[in-house]
This record gives sequence, structure tokens and C-alpha cells, in this order.
Amino acid sequence: MTSQFLTPVLQEGDEEVEQSLRPRRFDDFVGQERTKEQLQIALEAARGRGDALDHVLLVGPPGLGKTTLATIIREELGVGIRTVAGPALERKGDMAAILTGLQDRDVLFIDEIHRMNRAIEEILYPALEDFRLDIIVGQGAGARTLTLDLPPFTLVGATTRTGLLTTPLRDRFGMTFRLGYYEPGELASIVSRSARILGVEIEESAGEEIAGRARGTPRVANRILRRVRDVAQVRHSGAVTFDIAREALELLEVDGLGLERTDRELLTAITHKFGGGPVGLSTLAVSLGEEPDTIEDVYEPYLLQLGFIQRTPRGRVITALGREHIDAATPSNGLF
Ligand SMILES: Nc1ncnc2c1ncn2[C@@H]1O[C@H](COP(=O)(O)OP(=O)(O)O)[C@@H](O)[C@H]1O
Ligand SMILES: [Mg+2]
Repeated sequence: MTSQFLTPVLQEGDEEVEQSLRPRRFDDFVGQERTKEQLQIALEAARGRGDALDHVLLVGPPGLGKTTLATIIREELGVGIRTVAGPALERKGDMAAILTGLQDRDVLFIDEIHRMNRAIEEILYPALEDFRLDIIVGQGAGARTLTLDLPPFTLVGATTRTGLLTTPLRDRFGMTFRLGYYEPGELASIVSRSARILGVEIEESAGEEIAGRARGTPRVANRILRRVRDVAQVRHSGAVTFDIAREALELLEVDGLGLERTDRELLTAITHKFGGGPVGLSTLAVSLGEEPDTIEDVYEPYLLQLGFIQRTPRGRVITALGREHIDAATPSNGLF
């Protein structure tokens, strides 16, 4: 079992099971109450006017429900959706083809929108503002701009941090929602819903134990549930009990706060290799054998939230709380 096991980033083979667990309606979408409320009002207003919904930017660490919300928006609007990943758009023509293929009030979902190439992004500006596509034909003195009208549509963009977007792009979103980490109680209801869908019989206390160690992230909660199910199936029989959940979490090296091996390695590196910091992101990344982006988007947000590390202008610093945790969380002392 590798330390990558529980990373909230989507992994190969996840897509199918995630589809089955993904809420399709607001009623099944747990938590994020303010976001839900504001979105529901905007949706109802747009529907009432017969307009396309304003462009929506969804921001937050991986696994918190951005893609899920995009699909709920489309369901609520009863329109079509076109989904693309920012980095997958290579040529301007790719974007032009997508835009001209949209139907009235459709949703265009661009995941990882911050990783879109700049030239492609520029094609989006007039499309977002005036539902217009400008195409330049010919070259040099003979070049002309052809303008195509597009149907009104809604762009839903997903990104991990707003700071990664260019200002002109950011400014074209009518609404921005930041998804925060979930409370244990919310994660427990997500686990129990997922268990029902997967046909897993699970004790309430076992669900709560999983929820408490899912680092505030539904994707992680669902992933732990699946691993716990495996342990229950292979080593035991019948329902998932609290003890089985504990056993599985120990196997996964998930500690009491939901941190996994990479999180602890990160804390240990700052403390022991770099004298408690400050240490620059890229230096830290090299020492862990991870990409700086992965550290920044996947591992750091939760450690920051726990108050275990701090970001300073000169780099990352371990806090007293962070030190306490790694001193305590060694596999030998039974705290797992
Ligand atoms: N609010 C929620 N309620 C229930 N399940 C959720 C919620 N948010 C996310 N999930 C579950 O977590 C998984 C990951 O969510 P996803 O929308 O793909 O995250 P993101 O796009 O932000 O990385 C989904 O398959 C879904 O089952
Ligand atoms: Mg997603």
C-alpha cells in the first residue's frame, strides 16, 4: 500500500465508482450550505427569466465537490453539459469547436481552468461577455475578423486557487464559490449514503471513525470506505464494525487526524531536515519527491487548516502544534 493511496486527487479507475456515488441533486449534496443556497437562488432566478445562468467559478482543494456541483447545476437547469479539462485544450480551434457546438443555455464545464493555455483563454473572453466568437481569417494586411454569434451558455470553471487565474478571466465570472473542508458530521452522512449505494453494511461508529479521519474531504471518505470494505470482506465477514474500520485505517497508515504518510513526511522534513523552516516550496518538494503543485494543492491546505504549518514570505515553517503531532504520531506508540 503506497502513501499515495488516499490522496484526494482523482486516480485511475476512480471515475466509475465516483460516478455512482456522485450526488445528482442538491438534496443529496451534503454541506456547503451557503454555496448551495446562493446557487439555488441564482438557478431559480435564471430559470424564471429564461436566461442562461451567470458564469460560475468553483474554487477549492481536490475532492470537495467541484465536479459534482457542475453536474448538479446542469441537472437543475435541465440542459446539456460539455466537460473539458483545461490542459487538454491544445489549439484555438479546439475551443472554437466546443463553443460552436453548444446549445442554448448549455453548461460548459472547464476543469482545472487555470491550466488553460493563454491564447485559448483569450478566445473565451468575448464568448463569455457577449456570446461572440471572433475568428481571424487570412494573414497580414488581408486578415479579417469574422464574428459568430453563440447561444447564451454558462461557463462553470473549477480551480484549486483563484490566484492561479488571470485577472481578465477571473473578472468574467458572475459568481465565485469557495468550497471548504467538511465537518465530521457531514462526512459521516456522506459515508453512510455511499455505504448504502455500495451495499456495504456498516456500524454507525465505524462510519464516524472514517469520517473523522477523512481530512475534511468527501473523496477521501469514500476512498477509505472502499478500503475498509475490502478489509471487512477479506479478513472478516459481515458488517463493517468500528474495530474493522480501525484495523483498515491502521493498514492505510492514516493517523488519528487523518494524516497519511506523505503529510507526516512533510512535517518531519520541515522539522528535521530544514530546522523547522522557513524552507522554500521547491526545496521541500524535491526532498519529498513530489511536485510543488501537488504539495501546494493537495497536502498543504489541510495542514494549514490544522495550524500545523505556516506560509511565510521566506517559506514554510512548522508550528508548535505540527511538531507535537509528529512527535506523538510515531507508529510505535499505538496512537494510530
Ligand atoms: N457535498 C457532497 N456530498 C456528497 N458527496 C460528495 C460531496 N462532495 C463530493 N462528494 C463525493 O466526493 C467525490 C469527489 O467529488 P468531486 O466533485 O469529484 O470533487 P472535485 O471535483 O472537487 O475534485 C464525488 O464522487 C462525490 O461522490
Ligand atoms: Mg473534479
